[in-house]
Amino acid sequence: MQSKDIRETFLKYFEEKKHKRLPSSSLIPSDPTVLLTIAGMLQFKPIFLGLEEPAFSKATTCQKCVRVNDIEEVGKTSRHHTFFEMLGNFSFGDYFKEDAIRFAWELLTVKLKIKSEKLKIAVFKDDNEAHDIWTKKIGISEDRIYRLDAENNFWAAGPTGPCGPCSEIYYDFGEDKSCGPDCKLGCDCERYLEIWNLVFIQYNRDEAGNLDPLPKKNIDTGMGLERIARVLQNAATNFDTDLFKPLLLEINKHSKKKNISATRIVADHCRAMTYLIADGITPSNEARGYVLRRLIRRAVMYCKKLGIEDPFLWNICELVIESGQHFYPELQVQERFIKSIIQTEENNFKLTLSSGMEIIDKIITDSKNKNISGAQVFKLHDTYGFPYDLTKEILKEKGYSFDEAQFHKKMEEQRTRARSEAPKDQFLKLKKQAQDDYGTTKFVGYDTLEIQSKIVGIIPEENYIILNKTPFYPEGGGQVGDIGKINKTKVLDTLGTIGGVIFHKVEHSDGFKVGDTVSAQIDFIRRNKICPHHTATHLLHAALRIVLGQHVKQAGSYVGSDRLRFDFTHHKALSKEQVLDVEKIVNQNINKGISLNIFCTNYEAAKQKGVTALFDQKYGNEVRVVEVGDISRELCGGCHAKNTKELKSFKIIKEGGIQSGVRRIEAVVGEAVLEYQRKKEFNDSELKKKELEKEEAKAAAKAKVQGAAGLRNEAVKSIKEIKGIKVLAYQADKVDIKGLRALGDKIRDVFDSGIVLLAASFEGKAFFLALVSDDLVKKGYKAGDLVKIMAKVCGGGGGGRPNKAEAGGRDPSKIEEALKKAIESI
Ligand code: SER
Repeated sequence: MQSKDIRETFLKYFEEKKHKRLPSSSLIPSDPTVLLTIAGMLQFKPIFLGLEEPAFSKATTCQKCVRVNDIEEVGKTSRHHTFFEMLGNFSFGDYFKEDAIRFAWELLTVKLKIKSEKLKIAVFKDDNEAHDIWTKKIGISEDRIYRLDAENNFWAAGPTGPCGPCSEIYYDFGEDKSCGPDCKLGCDCERYLEIWNLVFIQYNRDEAGNLDPLPKKNIDTGMGLERIARVLQNAATNFDTDLFKPLLLEINKHSKKKNISATRIVADHCRAMTYLIADGITPSNEARGYVLRRLIRRAVMYCKKLGIEDPFLWNICELVIESGQHFYPELQVQERFIKSIIQTEENNFKLTLSSGMEIIDKIITDSKNKNISGAQVFKLHDTYGFPYDLTKEILKEKGYSFDEAQFHKKMEEQRTRARSEAPKDQFLKLKKQAQDDYGTTKFVGYDTLEIQSKIVGIIPEENYIILNKTPFYPEGGGQVGDIGKINKTKVLDTLGTIGGVIFHKVEHSDGFKVGDTVSAQIDFIRRNKICPHHTATHLLHAALRIVLGQHVKQAGSYVGSDRLRFDFTHHKALSKEQVLDVEKIVNQNINKGISLNIFCTNYEAAKQKGVTALFDQKYGNEVRVVEVGDISRELCGGCHAKNTKELKSFKIIKEGGIQSGVRRIEAVVGEAVLEYQRKKEFNDSELKKKELEKEEAKAAAKAKVQGAAGLRNEAVKSIKEIKGIKVLAYQADKVDIKGLRALGDKIRDVFDSGIVLLAASFEGKAFFLALVSDDLVKKGYKAGDLVKIMAKVCGGGGGGRPNKAEAGGRDPSKIEEALKKAIESI
């Protein structure tokens, strides 16, 4: 059975059991407590916790997941991956243990026709209920059921959150795969393969580790597609399934050396990087970006091991796209973007790699023993971006090891530093507490700018006021928080979330008390400038997709009253024409005078209408759609113009890159365009003025120099002969040293042999220049000596080469005397 048929069989089976089939959510989870989507249940967390009402009570998905905690196992074992697909069925307070077990058993043994005797079962040691369902209802004999401890059979997505005991179904590859007499279910060897995990989600674990019963009992199951494919395809390892085979074949074709583990690692990492980039993640040194960077770098390293030197990863990623796009359409949409990111990162790392290898070689040569210090490995990681496991492998190959304890200590120190440097998330804590204390603040600010409201909470230390309803928009979705007044007190900012608590940051909270009725009024002039900027980001987004392609995805935004900023995925700088085209399209849409249609619906209905969703959205939830005719349809909770003509006109003021694969546009609309133009005109005219001044000054200086040069005819009149030597001694007026130099150059032309002594008084100072022709230098006359003599008379000094020297003095009244002295000396 091909993997795509397995996916379909699974989803169809649960659909027939009245489960809602949903698409995979993004690898970027909406849950801020986890970095990447690690399981199918993540998108349903708020439902499990009772924070959201689902529109259906049962669902089924095939979820793309990335887990990197076992990255070092990848390639070494038959079953570890960084990227994998998880088939799952979920019940939100609908069925529980018995049906979950029945469904799984029926699907495996009847639909997928796996021989039941090949399957073994694990249950949580205290879970008699699950144990009895397996034995009494399903008919599994006692000897095939194992009671395992919490480490194996109590599942949680993280230290806190929904969790519960679980029951796992294992495939037994037979005794000959066993690692020895102690081998039993749960063992890490190659005998037992966990294929399906049924989690009975019934608790919420709090920060203190307490298990609070959830309002409803839920089911969360996960079956690894790669693993079930291996079983059904009778493949020796996960890598021998149709999910990997084409990739391995291609890698082998290009490899100059054989290394099964390296081949598998490259294939695994290429899958992960392709899917991560498709969801908008780009390589960086932080968080998700770092996970991606590390995967690409490891893949490059292992390519090197295989003797593949040319940029190569892209070839494999292309195959990943080809095989996955029918189920994950984002792969096709993002194809060009994925390609450019991978190529850039691969090439960049190759440069780092060769310098890093040199450093490693040097470390080895300098090392007195075979154990390298952890600090050096840390430095390689920290400064050169060398993943430590790579360094470890390289060292190992060369017969070296390193002080891992010291390395990890350094890493921990760095983490601690990072933690203490990170802004204290006081507000988040406050928000959580306030949510419990005050519940939801009703937001009425889409149409109302001023209301009478009641104070329900005051946080005096932070000067926050919480109202029961408010027209103040809390900073979110890129849009700035409103400012305004509560009674006569200024509101400086608004934070929180629509649908949660809204905090008004006031100048001071004295004089207010809980229960007071107050008037809450936003600064509507400012808001009226924010709205058109927000609508403009949607029009801009749509125009970018027309001009650059459908791969353009919003990566962040800022919507203020004076400008907007829009970050989006695109691989190279926009040409001037593209910028103009984008501007033109937005302006055309503004001029069409399209009325916005804003409505609430459920996510699925919105999706059917082709709505653009920013990040991972929660299914079944009510969502707000902002629709601008046929041009743009986005999920958005922000404030907008009523009609595009309110935007008046749109102007891009900046375009640039902010990180590899992400560009940023800054733009203005409406009055801000005029404001921008006024400022620009002013700046331009200031700039022009400055340029003009500069040019005038330059011209004046030039004139001065030319003027000085013009003195040449006058100066040559003063040539005298002293002992057969032509000597010109001349005092010029109103020129500085530059003028003297110009004059000297002109005079030099008329002399084959001679001495020139020039002097000038300028702005209260004396300047001297002496020139001596080469033949006279040979006879012992030195320009340096001559200027020294002159400068000394005027209370100064100077010097230079024998044929040309300059000097200055403080007393210009003695110039004549100085020239005389010099002539005397000649
Ligand atoms: N959440 C469970 C797991 O990841 C079952 O889906 O194993």
